[in-house]
Amino acid sequence: MQAITYELIKTCKQTGARLGKVHTPHGTFETPIFMPVGTLATVKTMSPEELEQMGAKIILSNTYHLWLRPGEDIVEAAGGLHQFMNWNGAILTDSGGFQVFSLSDLREIEEEGVHFRNHISGEKLFLSPEKAMHIQNSLGSDIMMAFDECPPYPAEHAYMKRSVERTSRWAERCLEAHNRIDKQGLFGIVQGGEYEDLRRKSAKDLMSMDFAGYAVGGLSVGEPKDVMNKVLDFTTPLLPDNKPRYLMGVGSPDSLIDGAIRGIDMFDCVLPTRIARNGTCMTSQGRLVVRNAKFSKDFSPIDPNCDCHVCKNYTRAYIRHLIKCNETFGFRLTTYHNLYFLLKLMKQVREAIIEDRLGDFREKFFEEYGFNEP
Ligand code: GUN
Ligand code: ZN
Repeated sequence: MQAITYELIKTCKQTGARLGKVHTPHGTFETPIFMPVGTLATVKTMSPEELEQMGAKIILSNTYHLWLRPGEDIVEAAGGLHQFMNWNGAILTDSGGFQVFSLSDLREIEEEGVHFRNHISGEKLFLSPEKAMHIQNSLGSDIMMAFDECPPYPAEHAYMKRSVERTSRWAERCLEAHNRIDKQGLFGIVQGGEYEDLRRKSAKDLMSMDFAGYAVGGLSVGEPKDVMNKVLDFTTPLLPDNKPRYLMGVGSPDSLIDGAIRGIDMFDCVLPTRIARNGTCMTSQGRLVVRNAKFSKDFSPIDPNCDCHVCKNYTRAYIRHLIKCNETFGFRLTTYHNLYFLLKLMKQVREAIIEDRLGDFREKFFEEYGFNEP
């Protein structure tokens, strides 16, 4: 029995977006869904109780970071990541592939794996498909990700081709090394950058292997939005209908809607939590920089159309004051609101799919939110 199963409930007649259910050892969630990021076994400033209250069902954590600190053996000794952090919902762990490429210095990629330097201590380290599987097995996440290479944008076709081929070989090794198949699902990651032939090749290679779900990787790495949408247009149809599809590292409201319309089920991004700690909020009218002086006497909520705990109880002026003074509580309030905003957006997307009106919803949302999201 696979640990992760997908149930397709309905396809939106207006857009083709999918409404589904993903069953995991830590509960079932409806898709399309947004996954808050908890890199170091914490969604920065939020308690697991708050995450539950705002409606989060699955969060993301990182193999790379937890391997370095506190070490997967400590998490395993605690009884796994869920017990360690007191989160009883589902957890997806990224494999470390992306983080090695984005955070570390002096990487050297070879067939066996990647040599690099610890971004904190400078110590020399090595990560391989087998090691990434071993660490994720110790962490005990519900969904593990294959160890892949995520090349930068733009990358030459010849480089991308070699990279895709290596990522396919690494994917086989990941499946081979994964030894908790009944307790944890493993997702493959389709790469290939902006090149249609390479996305096809990557998808074909990975479809011949038995993954519990499939991710589209290598996007949101600096390419224009229309490139991302074009890549999704030709990539998601290559993925099986009976398994979840995950677009990695995407979390701006417009891209969530446009991804769902292209058949994506799962998303994650540090964007809502990161901009929150910098005093920026997502609202139905676009981004609001609540730390701006113009809000110093504004006693209205962050978003008048939001029914979250923060918008019901706290004002822009108060939150601005806290953030100007670097008070932790201010960052907690903006983080809560931003996550609530995206979770609710996905709920609205799911409702629109049920009623075959996601195209109308998109139009109306963009009219208010604006099209010029950076
Ligand atoms: N996070 C965002 N993009 C990627 C990707 O391409 N691969 C992995 N492993 N993680 C990601
Ligand atoms: Zn709110």
